[in-house]
Parts: sequence; C-alpha cells; structure tokens
Amino acid sequence: MSSFLIIAVDGPAASGKGTIAARLAAEYGLPHLDTGLLYRAVGLKVLDAGGSLDDEAAAEAAARSLEVSGLSENARLTTGEAGEAASRIAGYPGVRAALLQLQQDFARQTGGAVLDGRDIGTVIAPDATAKLFITATPHTRATRRWKQLTARGDAIGFDEMLADIVKRDERDAGRGAAPMVQAGDAVLLDTTEMDIEAAFDAARRIVEAARAR
Ligand code: CDP
Repeated sequence: MSSFLIIAVDGPAASGKGTIAARLAAEYGLPHLDTGLLYRAVGLKVLDAGGSLDDEAAAEAAARSLEVSGLSENARLTTGEAGEAASRIAGYPGVRAALLQLQQDFARQTGGAVLDGRDIGTVIAPDATAKLFITATPHTRATRRWKQLTARGDAIGFDEMLADIVKRDERDAGRGAAPMVQAGDAVLLDTTEMDIEAAFDAARRIVEAARAR
C-alpha cells in the first residue's frame, strides 16, 4: 500500500463534499484544498473591481493574479453571492486554465492531498487514488445550505435557495469547459438519507477499498 494518497471529492452544491473532504483530510493527515474557494474568490474579485461577470477577459485576469493565501479565513467567500459569481465565471476556459497548475501542484505534493470541487477526478487529478462523487437530492441540499446560511444570519428564503441550487447545478453540468460530471472510475455516494457521521463513514470505506486495490 502506497503512502502517497490523492483523494478527489466532487459533487454538486451543498452535497456535503466539503465537510467530507475536510474530515478525510484530518483522518489521513493530508492537506485539504476546497477548490470552490478559488472560483468564489475570482468571482468576487471581478465584482469588487466594478467589473461584469459576463466579461471573460476580466475574469481570466482576476484568476491569473489571484492571491491564494488566506482564502479559507474569508467568510465572505461562503455567501450565496460568491457561489453564484463563482459559477458564472467557472465556465470560462481561460479562468480554468489559470487555476489549473496551482491545483495540480497542490494535489501532487509529498504524501498527497484531498481536493474537493467539480472536476478533481476528471481534470485536476485523473490519477487520484480514490475518487468520490457526493450527491443528494436538490431538496436535501437546499435544506442543508439554507440552515447553514440562516444560522449565521443571512436572509434567504428556502424556495429561493432551492431555485439557486437547481440553476447552479444546471449551469455547472451543462458548460463546455470541465463540466460537473462523475468520473468513470469515481464511486457515487448519495448522502440524502445520511447524517454527516454516516456519510463520513461511508466515504472512509470507499477510500479504504481504493487504497487496498
Ligand atoms: O459549496 P458549494 O458546492 O456551494 O460551491 P463550491 O464548491 O464552493 O463551488 C462554487 C462554484 O464554483 C460551483 O458552482 C462551480 O461553478 C465552481 N467550481 C468549479 O467550476 N470547479 C471546481 N473545481 C470548484 C468549483
């Protein structure tokens, strides 16, 4: 069994992939990269500069000059506005190309890493040791994200949350550049009926089975 371990965790919005990826990273003592933060930061950078999310060149320039340190401490990146902006600029091939190398370098560091996103198992780390595609019904995912955001005081209605999630899934799965799709060799984990403990346990078993191969 190799001590080099790359775990790719992909899936749609609010499927639980971020929490599962963070727990797997702690379990295996590996660094974790939430790649959605990169796209969220690029989207906000365009907006903060007064630009338009329809401006592909501006988004690509923002991606090329992105400052990566400190992203996980920036609470603004977890807002619905940032998620929507991320999904709008994530379809631009130039943005994805600008963010490719740093993600691949992160994946290939000594010992390996855990990365979560939409295209980790397909584009960033097609050679990952273990690939998981985490999903849940749109209603379940909207409920989870709504509880998360309202608990910290964000004002958003449940119906709006559900509509946002469905729209973002369609955009992410329908784009030409690195669309959200389950890799052929990824294991599907549907967490609709699972709490986080059960989901983490199932994910750990999938990783163990992959490592044993
Ligand atoms: O946490 P949540 O699933 O809501 O979103 P996220 O993982 O932070 O990703 C936000 C958006 O960034 C997604 O809707 C995608 O459009 C984009 N994204 C991507 O295209 N590729 C990735 N590897 C990660 C995120």
